[in-house]
Amino acid sequence: MISKDKFIIDDSGLDKIKEEIQQEFSHGLAHHGTDVSMIPTYVYGLPDGTESGTYLSLDLGGTNMRVCEVHLSGDRRFSISQEKYKISDELKTGEFTDLFAYMAKSIGHFVATKSHAKQGDRLPLGFTFSFPVDQSAINSGKLIGFTKGFKAANAVGKDVVKTLQHCLDEQKIPVDVVALVNDTVGTLLAHSYQSGGAKIGAIFGTGTNGAYLENLSEILKLDDAAKNSKAGSKMVVNTEWGNVDNARSVLPINEWDDIVDSASINPQSFEKLISGMYLGEILRRFLVDMHSKKHFLSQLDKLPDSLNTQYGLDTALMSASLEDVEGAELTQTYKVMTDLGVSKDLIKKEDAELFRDGSKYIGLRAARLSACALAAVIESEVRENETGDINIGLDGSVIEFFPKFEQSMRDALKVLLGHEAEQRIKIGLAKDGSGVGAELMQPRKTSSSSSSRD
Ligand code: GLC
Repeated sequence: MISKDKFIIDDSGLDKIKEEIQQEFSHGLAHHGTDVSMIPTYVYGLPDGTESGTYLSLDLGGTNMRVCEVHLSGDRRFSISQEKYKISDELKTGEFTDLFAYMAKSIGHFVATKSHAKQGDRLPLGFTFSFPVDQSAINSGKLIGFTKGFKAANAVGKDVVKTLQHCLDEQKIPVDVVALVNDTVGTLLAHSYQSGGAKIGAIFGTGTNGAYLENLSEILKLDDAAKNSKAGSKMVVNTEWGNVDNARSVLPINEWDDIVDSASINPQSFEKLISGMYLGEILRRFLVDMHSKKHFLSQLDKLPDSLNTQYGLDTALMSASLEDVEGAELTQTYKVMTDLGVSKDLIKKEDAELFRDGSKYIGLRAARLSACALAAVIESEVRENETGDINIGLDGSVIEFFPKFEQSMRDALKVLLGHEAEQRIKIGLAKDGSGVGAELMQPRKTSSSSSSRD
């Protein structure tokens, strides 16, 4: 059994964290250059499910890049044909222009081999770029900084649409980048298309973030032209909530979290405690410390390389270990630990329990923190409208695969918003949302008008 205290957030702690998030949201809506960027996206409304057409999109997330061709049928349904392209560590941390040239090349490959578009047509493309970008229009934005282990050089301040367009033109690929969206915005749009309206699009995957529709009058930092735009009275805001409480005033950061953050190439507080990229690393740092204190695998002088290497313990292994419920055999945990290079006869039951319980408490904390972020966004809606469903679209490996994540998140939402409000929240897994959402920003067609590429 581990001392749970360092991973537990009690109910009153949840409230404080939600309030901190709300304060940082307000600050970010009023000022430029804040940690929680509250990025205006120039998306002035949400789809209603009647949009139609066939479009291309490029989705650069945290782990994979994919090129997609999405067909929206105008009745809330879509079909998708896609190809994944691997991003090597060299590309993630090398020259920015090499990364973008590779993206252009992958689009070219997809168009030549998979797309159903007529040869010779110029094709519009929606670009889902899952990093913070200071947007100045729907089709332009400058990189604020990378997250999720990316650190390509000479990128900050560059317009990501112009750079991609330049690489496409250089490679003579007949594609025009017409829209730029964050993956959370894509998820919000896709979920709205599928369910006829949504309050939040959020990602709990390699990284974490959320987007929602805000009144223009609340986005105080917007310039007058955008504020007075006839396009609508609301705009989607990409919060970049991964940067909440970088000053560490309310988050329960323990010594293992602290090492994970300071040793990473993109230091951030909230993102680290929730995202799939880091949960395994927090467990690893904790286990290494326990080993040094002889509370874990004390029969081993030295831990196997996997446990001694940064990011050597994948979050997916925590999920596997959690298939062993309390009181039952620890079959999956023994398997995970032997896969990590520990010989089975050296694993005591207490070692396997420590691994499984560590996974459980780190995951539980992540789910409760996720609930704080969701509650921070929807609390006003809950208070203003006392009845009706509150649709939220979520995507990402943690929400999809981490055992009991959604249930633990819901339990915390009950504490934060009350039982009745929690019951009104309808969570939809917006799988492929980040790829589909960018399509919805392409020039609109309703089901009654036909697409030139249909
Ligand atoms: C990181 C990025 C953010 C993205 C999120 C989920 O937090 O900064 O832009 O939305 O990961 O992919």
